[in-house]
Amino acid sequence: MAKSPTSRVDKLLSSMGYGSRNEIARMAKAGGITLDGAAIMDVAKRIPVTPDLPARLKVNGEVLDPLVGLVILLNKPLGMTCSHKEAGALVYDILPDRWRWRDPAISTIGRLDKQTSGLLLLTDDGGLLHRVISPKRHVKKTYRAKLARPLDGTEGDLFASGLLMLEGEDKPLAPAELEVVTQTEALLSVTEGRYHQVRRMFAATGNHVEELHRERLGGLLLPDGLRSGQWKVLSENEIALILQ
Ligand code: URA
Repeated sequence: MAKSPTSRVDKLLSSMGYGSRNEIARMAKAGGITLDGAAIMDVAKRIPVTPDLPARLKVNGEVLDPLVGLVILLNKPLGMTCSHKEAGALVYDILPDRWRWRDPAISTIGRLDKQTSGLLLLTDDGGLLHRVISPKRHVKKTYRAKLARPLDGTEGDLFASGLLMLEGEDKPLAPAELEVVTQTEALLSVTEGRYHQVRRMFAATGNHVEELHRERLGGLLLPDGLRSGQWKVLSENEIALILQ
């Protein structure tokens, strides 16, 4: 069996945003860091970084945050931006404060517009991020769109044709699937992630998207019980659903 990687306690905790190495050394001296109930005084000590570590290593009495390789599913509220640095409310503001200091950093997997809500993934796993957004993978994303005007019945064929050219672009969109819910509401599944893609697809048919909500990404559904602004860390099985 491969041996678990080890890490110095101070390096591990500072890479998880708990403070500078000096701050962590001070916390340890005050008895604030314990492994299996025993205080760690020497933060230069190397410990095995095993999946059960978050349950065993406590910081000020609290279980450790998820280790590197985490994937977060957020039900993104309207009005928040998927950016690390723009002005205004950012999706990262919803996560615990110290997570801003994690290294590797947590980033959104793709983006949703400020005025789009629903399923948004965030991760510190750069490999996973690139696999999910890679156009070669054709990961399906399903959006519920509420429209200003009734559908005219031609949209499904147009979106499925693989011929629709968005304004200002020189390559047609890949085929997309439309499921009509009511005259002014539809589910649209796309495999690309072009700028404002869903809004621009309906605009190309003379319509206007009034509300947009992402419900599905790959094999992962936005859980019913996860309310707007709530998030959860995905299990390994749930992560596997993304690229299914
Ligand atoms: N298409 C859009 O127009 N906006 C989004 O946020 C996602 C897809």
